Amino acid sequence: MGKTIIKATGLVKSYGEGEGKTYALDGVDVEVHANEFLVILGESGSGKSTLLNVLGGMDDVEEGEILFEGKDLAKAKARDLTKYRRDSVGFVYQFFNLLNDLTVLQNVMIAPGARKHKDRALQILGRVGLGDKLDKFPAQLSGGQQQRVAIARALNKECDLLLCDEPTGALDAASGKAVLQLLEELHGEGKTIVLVTHTKEIAQMATRVIAMKDAKIIRNEENPSRRKAKDIDW
Ligand SMILES: Nc1ncnc2c1ncn2[C@@H]1O[C@H](COP(=O)(O)OP(=O)(O)OP(=O)(O)O)[C@@H](O)[C@H]1O
Ligand SMILES: [Mg+2]
Repeated sequence: MGKTIIKATGLVKSYGEGEGKTYALDGVDVEVHANEFLVILGESGSGKSTLLNVLGGMDDVEEGEILFEGKDLAKAKARDLTKYRRDSVGFVYQFFNLLNDLTVLQNVMIAPGARKHKDRALQILGRVGLGDKLDKFPAQLSGGQQQRVAIARALNKECDLLLCDEPTGALDAASGKAVLQLLEELHGEGKTIVLVTHTKEIAQMATRVIAMKDAKIIRNEENPSRRKAKDIDW
């Protein structure tokens, strides 16, 4: 197992008051290790996105500790949290979150935390198979291609950690599979991937699976029999 990148303990987050109070995280402990492909699996409303957002410094908690490189993100100043978000994690979302009036190349080069070297952006876009789409706008691309732009944008940072929230959720099966194959290759090249999904078949490609239910972790297991993305159907 790789070294621990993030160690979160006792995470609590809730919404509402009194009768209407619901927990999004109800005493969650989770570790992320270098170069794992961690899948967080659970039904809608189980707390997966909340957990991912908390790990990515996008959301706060009421209780708990989130250690990253020895510092507690839960207690970090706004400025340090912004820096963490910008420099230390790459995000990939269900609905891509691209800027629609920027080209593919601009989306990869101009994002917060992006490195501004054009050659690097070109190389990454080639890597994700979009070398011929540099000057297109997101609306001119398929969903699968847009998601590859989003992945390229996440790769254009110094960091090795990619947090992916339902990255195949808005894609047809074939494009979804292509995105998973890309993530699998990036994992093989040394990236650490945390992928949230409610599709249990996708967990077959994980090195470790965490299952959530009702704001709690109900299972946390290594996966001894990983399958290739290309062999997974859902
Ligand atoms: N902004 C919010 N206001 C109120 N309740 C919220 C808010 N965000 C999340 N919740 C609640 O917190 C719980 C966990 O939500 P979360 O989005 O983390 O679930 P999820 O597992 O990602 O679900 P999905 O698979 O549908 O994306 C749910 O009960 C949800 O209704
Ligand atoms: Mg979600």
